[in-house]
Parts: sequence; structure tokens; C-alpha cells
Amino acid sequence: MKEYTIQSTVRVYDWDELAAEDQKLVQAAKDATNGSYAPYSGFYVGAAARLGDGTIVIGSNQENVAFPSGLCAERTTLFAANAQHPNQPVLALAIAARNKDGFLSQPIPPCGACRQVISGVEQRYNQPIRILLYGTAGIHVVDGIDALLPLQFSNEYL
Ligand code: THU
Repeated sequence: MKEYTIQSTVRVYDWDELAAEDQKLVQAAKDATNGSYAPYSGFYVGAAARLGDGTIVIGSNQENVAFPSGLCAERTTLFAANAQHPNQPVLALAIAARNKDGFLSQPIPPCGACRQVISGVEQRYNQPIRILLYGTAGIHVVDGIDALLPLQFSNEYL
């Protein structure tokens, strides 16, 4: 038997430690929660993508009475960014979530389906996406989807 270990590095920043452009992106994700349509879960998620030319595209979770027909904030945002700016790579993605009590102290990590889409966008532009997960107790940052989706299926296997 052989084994190998896969490690991920997550950096946790206080708000004041973030660069101005990261603060701006995280603030955009927080603001984007106001566009969330979440009457079923009461869980309001916002995301903001920074593109190669500096454009910020926002999105939020959009629920549907037929639950699986809704979509998470991350995919709403990335699909909107790619549809509207197909020639711009996504450099960074910020995510924030709140419930009836306000923003969560610990950030939510993206669901598996969203991780796969983030992976696909990285591959499309051959560009790692820095991911910033907002919590009131700190902003968790990874340098790319590798940290959240090890052993991912990629176009290299095709
Ligand atoms: N949700 C997101 O938008 N992003 C995530 O990363 C996790 C979950 C949404 C889906 C659903 O509208 C609500 O949060 C509760 O799961």
C-alpha cells in the first residue's frame, strides 16, 4: 500500500489586513446578498467576481419553489460574468452569507457543484481564481480551487 497526503493552505485575514481591492470585492459580495431570493431557506448568499479588466460582476442565490431549479450565488455570478464578459478571465471570487441574524461569523465554503464550476472557469481561462470567504470573525482566502477541490477532473484527462 502506498499513500499520499494532499494539503491545502487557507489564510485567515482580519478586515484591516485585506488589500483595498479585496475589501472592495468582499464588500460587493456582502452587498450582493440584498439581491438574493431565498424565501425557502432564509439564507442569503452573495458573490462578487473580479475580472481581468477590473470589472466586478455580482450575483446571489436564486431559489425556486421546485427546489433543485434554484441556483447558488457562486454559479449565478460566474455564469453571468462569463456570459457578459466572455473574453475576461476571473481573477478572484468573494462569497458572503447572512441569515435572519446577520452575516455569519464563520464563512460558508462553496458547495460541491459550485467548486466544480469554479474549477471549470479556472480551466477555461487557464487562470487560478483567488477565493475570499467572508465571515465576521475573519476572511478565509485560498489561492485557487485546488485548495477546495483536490483531485479534480480536468481537461488534461480528456
Ligand atoms: N447556497 C449558495 O448560494 N452558495 C453556497 O455556497 C451554499 C448554499 C444557497 C443555496 C440555497 O439557496 C441556500 O443557500 C441554502 O442552501
